[in-house]
Amino acid sequence: MTSRLRMNKNRFYVTTPIYYVNDIPHIGHAYTTIAADILARYHRLRGDDVFFLTGTDEHGQKVEQAAKAKGLSPKEHANIMVENFKSLWKSLNISNDNFIRTTDSGHIKIVQEILQKLYDTGEIEKRSYAGWYCTPCERFWTEKDLVEGNCPDCGRPVEEIQEENYFFLMSNYKNDLIAYIKNNPNYILPESRKNEVLGFLRTQELGDLCISRPKSRLAWGIPLPFDENFVTYVWFDALVNYYSATKYLAPPPHPPLAKGGLMGGDWWPADHHLAGKDILTTHAVYWSTMLMALGWELPINIFAHGWWTVDGKKMSKSLGNVVDPNEMVKNYGADAFRYFLLREVPFGLDGNFSKDALVNRVNTDLANDLGNLLSRFLTMAEKFFNGAIEKRNAASGDYVRECINAAYSIHHEPQNWSQLRFNHILDSIWDIIRAANNHIAQTEPWKLAKSNEEYLKDVMFELWNALRLSAVSLYPFMPDTAEKMWKQLGLKSLTVEAGDYNIFTWQWKPGYEIKISKGEQLFPRIEVKKMTADTTPPAPLLVSGDTEGANLISIEDFAKVELKIGKVLQAERVPKSNKLIKLQVDTGEMRQVVAGIGHVYAPEDLTGKKIAVATNLKPAKLMGVESQGMLLAATDSDGVLSILMPEKDVKEGAKIK
Ligand code: ME8
Repeated sequence: MTSRLRMNKNRFYVTTPIYYVNDIPHIGHAYTTIAADILARYHRLRGDDVFFLTGTDEHGQKVEQAAKAKGLSPKEHANIMVENFKSLWKSLNISNDNFIRTTDSGHIKIVQEILQKLYDTGEIEKRSYAGWYCTPCERFWTEKDLVEGNCPDCGRPVEEIQEENYFFLMSNYKNDLIAYIKNNPNYILPESRKNEVLGFLRTQELGDLCISRPKSRLAWGIPLPFDENFVTYVWFDALVNYYSATKYLAPPPHPPLAKGGLMGGDWWPADHHLAGKDILTTHAVYWSTMLMALGWELPINIFAHGWWTVDGKKMSKSLGNVVDPNEMVKNYGADAFRYFLLREVPFGLDGNFSKDALVNRVNTDLANDLGNLLSRFLTMAEKFFNGAIEKRNAASGDYVRECINAAYSIHHEPQNWSQLRFNHILDSIWDIIRAANNHIAQTEPWKLAKSNEEYLKDVMFELWNALRLSAVSLYPFMPDTAEKMWKQLGLKSLTVEAGDYNIFTWQWKPGYEIKISKGEQLFPRIEVKKMTADTTPPAPLLVSGDTEGANLISIEDFAKVELKIGKVLQAERVPKSNKLIKLQVDTGEMRQVVAGIGHVYAPEDLTGKKIAVATNLKPAKLMGVESQGMLLAATDSDGVLSILMPEKDVKEGAKIK
């Protein structure tokens, strides 16, 4: 993706959703905000002018009700709750340039100006309206949207309401929006989400959007400038934050509010709106068409990331499994938590959080691969050369080539960043780290110390260089760790020295003597707690030869089953079935697989996923639909069902043996 369409190429504007203040922040909120922070830090490192915005969504029925339950005014309630977000962002080392609250007077003024402009140009119309209203979701539904008489989103009862309201004539923009999305392939990412939006727009009728609520029903909102009996719908207010902030919260230069008028902000359009897949429609459809009606540029990209579950279950207060990011920071440190979230799951796919997986990542990737490399290097540097690293010119061999290739991929293949391939970038950083660990094993510097001091100096400089490149590349993900590495490697200031563009290449050297200074260990190993008496011991291992009573088959029998990795290209429910989902799977060849997983997984959660499929079963019909294979899934004694997915991104068609 060419990153910008606007004149000034060095501006970078990234946003998170503005979070509702009726809830306390959890891992999901932390996820989006950390991802935005990584982008912001990377662009600052590259010398761009960055505006990174996050904030809170403070109007609407839910906030009004939560405040009432506590005996507070909505604003008093918001003032308390907003601090939970602000303090979490501090402890997670989030470098947002500003924080927008939709109760800011600057924001309210712009929302009203926009409403007036749309009203004056005939884009908003008053209509009498009857519909089914879901209070928790703050949305109207038509009769045919309802599922068994309940809200199709949350399943709760709806109320029939008839009232006058104002409508934004969104349906006028349906064709323009389809064309825009088609002509701008990176407008909505990932690809699977773009296809979902296009599918929705092509197959469903796009109605007009009710953008008002009568004050008699909801007082806590921004009043419509052209009708004092109404406030505006919370989503209309909320989405405008991305634009309004450019007018009064962005780093200068931005036009003064009084003179600026509505358009002409230096920071619009945004480069990326990051959001969870739950709010893709509001961004991709509502916000895009609002901007079209205003005649303004659309953002460069809307990225809908996946959903975190916890130990395989949906996070919920009633299950008591909501992950508190503050606790994660306290127990494991901000950098380990940041790293884990972005490393564990490719951005865009759903993920499952477990403390075991986090500890495993810390111990293997951070303590073993990275931490040990640094500490071994520093110990050797002290021992062999009293901490001095000579700047050498030798730059050839497989090891150097591997590091150069990885650094190129991280910093010079712009689509890795513009398409938010964090996982891929981290893979490349680990290529450097692994290459350096192998280089130590192969060159055995402790032997060279006795036999070849000149070559030892080359090796030590090559290791230093790999660590230096790793540190600068890791900075967006783990800023504290990167700075610590930088100092221990004898360098001055990572962020200042990054002003030199060459810092991202193998060739860069500081203009001063390098003297390492060994500091504290980066990531001490986390001891995994011994099993306590009340945990159930695992079943004893089957010892070879101990076959009595076991239902064993021969390897030849097992080999008869053909198991392959498949990629789910499409998923939809089988009509009239709660459980069955029909999947179109690429297992090297296209096949249709029907699976009884619909009570746990939604079709949209499956698209794009890699799964394990038994491919040589005789076709069978389930509720009249042919299945040409079986998806592998596990169900435990608590009834938790989990689809088996490969731990790495293996190609579709790969054989499972
Ligand atoms: O929707 N996994 O606010 P919100 C991943 N105010 N991300 C998650 C998550 C999970 N389990 N749970 C929440 C709103 N998120 C509106 C937004 S924007 C103009 C208005 C993240 O507090 C994810 O980014 O419900 C999701 O989109 C957002 O929190 C929803 O936050």
